[in-house]
Amino acid sequence: MTVFSVFNMSGGVGKTTLTMNLAHELNTRGVKTLAVDMDPQASLTTFFGLDAYELPKTIHNSLMDSEPLPIESSEWCDLAPANLTLAQAELSLTAELRREYRLADALSKISDQYDAIIVDGPPSLGLLSVNCLVAADYLIVPLATNYKAVEATMGLLRVSIEIASKVNPGLKVLGLVPTMFDRRTSGARRAKEAIDDIAKQLQLPMFEGMQVFAPVPLRTAISDAQEAHQPLSVYDSKNDGLKAIRKIADVMASQVEVTV
Ligand SMILES: Nc1ncnc2c1ncn2[C@@H]1O[C@H](COP(=O)(O)OP(=O)(O)O)[C@@H](O)[C@H]1O
Ligand SMILES: [Mg+2]
Repeated sequence: MTVFSVFNMSGGVGKTTLTMNLAHELNTRGVKTLAVDMDPQASLTTFFGLDAYELPKTIHNSLMDSEPLPIESSEWCDLAPANLTLAQAELSLTAELRREYRLADALSKISDQYDAIIVDGPPSLGLLSVNCLVAADYLIVPLATNYKAVEATMGLLRVSIEIASKVNPGLKVLGLVPTMFDRRTSGARRAKEAIDDIAKQLQLPMFEGMQVFAPVPLRTAISDAQEAHQPLSVYDSKNDGLKAIRKIADVMASQVEVTV
């Protein structure tokens, strides 16, 4: 089982959109994939068409009480759902033992059931995001191609990944994903250049082999697909955004051992 965490402590950078589409892409390739919602706002859970408030159990129960991960099946792939109670878990975990390892512990119990796990992280830096970093084999880091945003987030991202690798020494960054890329604007092009420059300066072992993936373009179909609770490949099978998403899924699949 290989665990990928989609990580960036900023909101609105395309984490949930990527998680949903990558999970579906991996599943269609025969990689048995579980998507995990670690955001109290539960966008991924909603995205899969579930009513977050009607769920009897969520990932909160696994993190707080070591219960087995609740798994909901959907047309696209399996999901461990979340809802707002996860915000409470973040506060209560502070006083608990192994508080940084709760997600890793929960995932280790189902390691023979899935080939790949893809975790959608919260838009914050706290115990939930630390759990995402500690549970991961690989990080996928979406970055909105907005020049100011890249500048502001890269330093914090680097520091948090470096700190996490002290707790999780095997942690690797699979790649940076420029998202919502609008080729027509000079700001987006400059942001893409800044991402390329920063990537070259990242020399520590966890960044070895990291790539800057081709940008996911800004497309209304991508947000419309999300609203329609469908992966982009189902909503608009000819959309040019699929190329970038499929390339990331190819690289992920190459890091996964598929069990039959
Ligand atoms: N490439 C894209 N083109 C257009 N809209 C996008 C794209 N990626 C994401 N969005 C939209 O932007 C918003 C934020 O994306 P989301 O994936 O929820 O970000 P995060 O999970 O990082 O907060 C959503 O409404 C989503 O549909
Ligand atoms: Mg999100």
